[in-house]
Amino acid sequence: MKKKVFSGVQPSGIPTIGNYVGAMKHFVELQDEYDCTYCIVNQHAITVPQDPSELRSRTRELAALYLALGIDPNKSTIFVQSDVPAHAQAAWIVQCHTSIGELERMTQYKDKSGKQESVSAGLLTYPPLMAADIILYDTDFVPVGDDQKQHLELTRNFVQRFNNRYSKKDELLVMPEPMIAEEGSRIMSLQEPTSKMSKSDTNQKGFISLLDPPNVILKKIKSAKTDSSGVIEYDKENKPGISNLLTIFSAFSGKSIKELEAEFAGSGYGDFKVQLAEAIIAVLEPIQNRYQELLVSDELDHVLKEGAERANKVAHATLKRMETAIGLA
Ligand code: TYM
Repeated sequence: MKKKVFSGVQPSGIPTIGNYVGAMKHFVELQDEYDCTYCIVNQHAITVPQDPSELRSRTRELAALYLALGIDPNKSTIFVQSDVPAHAQAAWIVQCHTSIGELERMTQYKDKSGKQESVSAGLLTYPPLMAADIILYDTDFVPVGDDQKQHLELTRNFVQRFNNRYSKKDELLVMPEPMIAEEGSRIMSLQEPTSKMSKSDTNQKGFISLLDPPNVILKKIKSAKTDSSGVIEYDKENKPGISNLLTIFSAFSGKSIKELEAEFAGSGYGDFKVQLAEAIIAVLEPIQNRYQELLVSDELDHVLKEGAERANKVAHATLKRMETAIGLA
């Protein structure tokens, strides 16, 4: 039997090339070898304020993007989190087995709560919902970017605690493992190469969205922060800007960083940036064309309906197992 993969993306903005390189690119690559389930985690998105109609359209748009990237509904299950009630139900069970201290230690909670005027309880209990997402599908591997490592650790701790307490054979819940690529798991902002690229960055120049048109991509890459040395080499500590661009170039071209350094030895940043923009555009343009077609097709609704049906079956069975173990069923 194939091992199981699960991952999700929040419809809180249009995904960036960071989301693509760190996670979504791998979603597509993993489909043949694994039994994959990919979720649009709209319930995670409401942990911070969202405009209702925007959230609704972003959810659909993200589904179209999943398909446009090449996630194949004949191989993988694609669904929207709120279409499967077991997520919220299992999350409650996870919350009741997780201490507040554990949740308060999450760096993403600390970062995000510091930026909000009023912090929702959901922002604190976000990781238990993520744990629920993962365990409901008997997940073996979770392809994510580096920023989700701590949430995966919390999930693993929960699984161990839950299995120890309620199961004699340790097989009640499957222990998931993060799948974090060595390269590209933390793409940095184009404007501040020491902070992570984020789809919710207020500075539009800091990120490239997967739907940015070619001229915008070129403009953003041209204005990316580098340094004054003018030498194209990977040195994350001292030259974070050019190192980040090399990582992005490698992900979009398939060439290794070493190959790129050799290819651009003696070239200037200007020439490098133009070629980098071309490499990004070459990958994104066909995706964007497919995306536009999918968005207006019925195929999307059909895929999400079927995906929800499949997901509901699997998730409900795991939820029942959990409820039976703890005496709720
Ligand atoms: P989200 O929506 O913030 O990001 C989606 C995925 O993109 C990765 N990522 C990055 N990778 C490299 N460089 C970056 N700058 C970068 N920014 C984001 C994220 O690590 C993630 O893999 N909590 C999750 C969504 C989630 C989930 C899950 C993931 C909910 N339930 C269950 C896996 C399994 C999140 O906020 O992702």
